[in-house]
Amino acid sequence: MLMLKRTELSAEEMRELAAFLPGADPEVKPRFRGADGCAGSWRPIIPVCEPVLGGNEIEYVRQAIESNWISSAGGFTREFEAAFARFCGTRYGIACSSGTAAMHLMAASLGLESGDEVILPTFTMIATANAITYCGARPVLVDCEPQHWQMDVEQVAAKITPRTRAVMPVHIYGHPVDMDPLIELADRHGLAIIEDAAESHGARYKGRPVGGLGLAAGFSFYANKIVTTGEGGMVTTNDPDFARLAATLRDHAFSPERHFWHSYIGFNYRLSNLQAAVGLAQMEQCERLIEARRRNAAAYGRTLASIPGIRTPAEAPWASSVYWMYGILVDAEEYGLTRDQLRRRLAENGIETRSFFVPVHCQPVYRRAYASEGFPVAERLCRDGLYLPSASSLQLEEIEYIAGVIRGACPGLGS
Ligand SMILES: Cc1ncc(COP(=O)(O)O)c(C=O)c1O
Repeated sequence: MLMLKRTELSAEEMRELAAFLPGADPEVKPRFRGADGCAGSWRPIIPVCEPVLGGNEIEYVRQAIESNWISSAGGFTREFEAAFARFCGTRYGIACSSGTAAMHLMAASLGLESGDEVILPTFTMIATANAITYCGARPVLVDCEPQHWQMDVEQVAAKITPRTRAVMPVHIYGHPVDMDPLIELADRHGLAIIEDAAESHGARYKGRPVGGLGLAAGFSFYANKIVTTGEGGMVTTNDPDFARLAATLRDHAFSPERHFWHSYIGFNYRLSNLQAAVGLAQMEQCERLIEARRRNAAAYGRTLASIPGIRTPAEAPWASSVYWMYGILVDAEEYGLTRDQLRRRLAENGIETRSFFVPVHCQPVYRRAYASEGFPVAERLCRDGLYLPSASSLQLEEIEYIAGVIRGACPGLGS
């Protein structure tokens, strides 16, 4: 694949996708005070997400600067790695520069090469698939299940070929994939599992934290993630050889025996000590940040429950979700407006939202490789899904206000 080649879809190819691709993001208009009963920290625009930097972030960054250790070789990097590995119940944490870098480090540490295949869900952010493509390997796509919007584990077996090397489940929006059947299948076929846990810090599968459920996992610390370093990522694993290789590849594959000596093509995917200082401060607060996400999800569930045509996310019996994003589905027939119409109404009332992911198989760069395959659940999620403001700092009054706007916009309920 020529990675720098731009791919445009033809008008006919676009027509096939038109039925479910989201429209442009609506402009969010500030609301006026008095438009609702919101007390406390009232704000004219409720953002879809924002970081919460309320702890020792500034103090630790100050310490990093005063120590003069501002690149990756500083104490905060090691402390952050140890704290995050503890949080995931793994032996190793390898901090890196982004979630995408974490995914690529995992793929590269597996030794993926041209012709290899990795099975992953089409309903994900494009970085999951790109990490495999960077290695010259092929992402093989499966649909998701309609109840929890996660990779449909039952579809994986049919996609295994002699070239399959790994399965890459993605815990979408903070909800864990049903891992036990996947682990059983992967073990039976000798496949590695690498989790894309970019969105799911602290989520649990049958009581076990994500990040330690397969050979390795990758996390993102982008500013909208529950734990953030601004930009950043982490690979977690229990495997010492995998950890060593990922750490080596992260740092240009410098040889421990001789300086400027390289036996692998490595990368510069290092996380700076300044970013790690922020990350360590975030780890001190992360249980509280997760608790706020779960409390907000419960409040959304209560306030949206009786609105016809609005489907709220279901938590599977195996799952403790962290609700990275609180997504809903809009059944246009039952609700009376389409997803995009509802997004416009919310934007007119100062509420920022996002449409769900456009699946990998619909992306211009991947479309032609998958045009003959059907992924109806992912396409329906792409057509009907949006996420509401989801930050850990969201106020209960704001949730009530948002639910009120959704209720008021429903033609059947009147205003
Ligand atoms: C599922 C998933 N994988 C990978 C990434 C990439 O992370 P980053 O933006 O930190 O590179 C994201 C980012 O949001 C994501 O949602």
